[in-house]
Amino acid sequence: MSYPAHGANAEALYNSLHIEIPKNIIDLSENVNALGQPQAVKALWPTLLSSLGKYPNEQVEPFRSKIAEYHQVAPAYIAVGNGAAECLMVLARHFQQSRAIVLEPSFSEYKRTLQQEGVAVHSLLVDDIQTYTIPVEHVKQAMEQADILYICNPNNPTGVLTKKAIIEELLQYGQQVDCTIVVDEAFIDWTDEEESVVSLVSTYDNLIVLRSMTKMYALAGVRLGYMISQQAPKFV
Ligand SMILES: Cc1ncc(COP(=O)(O)O)c(C=O)c1O
Repeated sequence: MSYPAHGANAEALYNSLHIEIPKNIIDLSENVNALGQPQAVKALWPTLLSSLGKYPNEQVEPFRSKIAEYHQVAPAYIAVGNGAAECLMVLARHFQQSRAIVLEPSFSEYKRTLQQEGVAVHSLLVDDIQTYTIPVEHVKQAMEQADILYICNPNNPTGVLTKKAIIEELLQYGQQVDCTIVVDEAFIDWTDEEESVVSLVSTYDNLIVLRSMTKMYALAGVRLGYMISQQAPKFV
């Protein structure tokens, strides 16, 4: 029996289990903001209809500059995708045929997109699933044989927030052994962002931060995500 690869797909799950789809479903795999879109988006929505017939701006403006301003980085450090999901595909294509480490348990799309591009994935289990303790020395050892390391912060599905200092230690080591670190911060705007590594992008050229407009702003259908990195020009 094959289950849907991703959550938020109740219909496909019922179908794969051959169960009749109930009228009311409470989908606990759905992780977008239950309060819905911000008022500002709702207010603007009717005026956006006239833009539907136009191709989007090739430079992804004004979104790119606004996002750069919000994060206080250069616009050149921003690469926008159709959701963070497309950014993951772009990354996997860029690193095709290389070697990756994925800390587990985590978001299943890392492994899936990487393997699709022929990347050899080393799944590294955290020390304790509940506290999601990253085995730093073990990870460093594995980084010596890897080109890229994926960390989800806060982690999906365990929800644990890893300290910025731990990620910075790994970034420093990554510079020594030539290993890039992707930090997926799709859910970090649910925290006070103190542990976000966006402020480290200017210091570490081996850092790629992934962000999504899906979760906090309940904009899953718009498909809007982006990467913040000195390497961004390679992904646009
Ligand atoms: C940890 C994580 N990263 C990235 C994504 C993809 O987000 P987007 O909706 O921007 O494609 C998801 C979606 O579930 C996710 O849970």
